[in-house]
Amino acid sequence: MIKIKNRKILLLPGDGIGPEVVAEVKKVIQWLNSKKSLDFTIDEDLIGGASIEKHKNPITDEVFYKAMESEIIIFGACGGPKWDNLEFSKKPERALLKLRKELKLFANLRPAICFKQLVEASSLKPEIVSGLDIMIVRELTGGIYFGEPRGIKPIENGERKGINTHTYTSNEIIRVAKVAFELAKKRSKKVTSCEKSNVMESGVLWKEEVQKVRDNDYTDIALNHMLADNCAMQLLRDPKQFDVIVTDNLFGDMLSDEAAMLTGSLGLLPSASLGAKDKNGKMRSMYEPVHGSAPDIAGEGIANPIASILSFSMALRYSLDLDQEADNLDQAVQKVLDDGLRTKDILSKGKKEVSTLQMGDAIISKLK
Ligand code: IPM
Ligand code: MG
Repeated sequence: MIKIKNRKILLLPGDGIGPEVVAEVKKVIQWLNSKKSLDFTIDEDLIGGASIEKHKNPITDEVFYKAMESEIIIFGACGGPKWDNLEFSKKPERALLKLRKELKLFANLRPAICFKQLVEASSLKPEIVSGLDIMIVRELTGGIYFGEPRGIKPIENGERKGINTHTYTSNEIIRVAKVAFELAKKRSKKVTSCEKSNVMESGVLWKEEVQKVRDNDYTDIALNHMLADNCAMQLLRDPKQFDVIVTDNLFGDMLSDEAAMLTGSLGLLPSASLGAKDKNGKMRSMYEPVHGSAPDIAGEGIANPIASILSFSMALRYSLDLDQEADNLDQAVQKVLDDGLRTKDILSKGKKEVSTLQMGDAIISKLK
């Protein structure tokens, strides 16, 4: 193994089950450090509701600057009912959105892979999902999540009006399309681009710009365009028709939750949020499980740490070029599933239920 010297990694466990699942990632990193295959300096801090409790702010300047300095961030989850009634700008989720936006993490990679051991855990028929391996590339710093104007304002008759704006510029579309085409090169050379060009001008622009990128630079890649609602339907009807899906921030949010359930559980899906490479080839990155803070099961020790551990595996692959180490970690997860160990969310008859902690330990034992 190649020893990576002196890299900094920032853990932001956040709220709900975030701290429980990120603790398992920390164990994996510490184990790799102790085996001298990695040499990471780990730092850890508060974010989201946890930060609100202590600092009355979902992300302090100190944590924000730490994040700016970090090459790799591992994020747990943020939010929960306790903070639901806060003013919008003070909610835990603002911390996550601020990191995505300010660190310019515009490309969000959300792979949906149906593990053969878990075909039964999906609510769809085995023949529909077995062997499923999709990569959703979600644009993460634009669209309706960030568009201006936004807000709630009073209008006549004592009514109020809620406003959000969906905008995309050519460049925002082009850079994320390129990420999708680059990924497709290493996969089955097929990209589906999703928008609502039948009702939205920004969707027309999306479609045209993605097509231009393909025609200019990626003529060996097959591109098809699909309306996002149709894509939602096709994901349930015949998900294996897809390989790489590229779409905007809002559609990507929804389609990736849907794709997650094809694989059996939200507890399995990792994600990588990537920025552009700088002139030294370095890039900012944040890795987080697709699942949220799951307040209903927080603190019980039953959350599935696989999504977080696989998110760290994506960090090894995309930020550190340690494909071998990433493969080892992915295989360790597979082996544990082969052994029949399951957290509650993926438990089925005849399998052994384990806690968050036991799942983490079992995965590490397979690395040995
Ligand atoms: C996600 C989440 C976030 C989003 C929330 C927590 C702000 O649902 O990462 O998919 O909407 O992007
Ligand atoms: Mg979501």
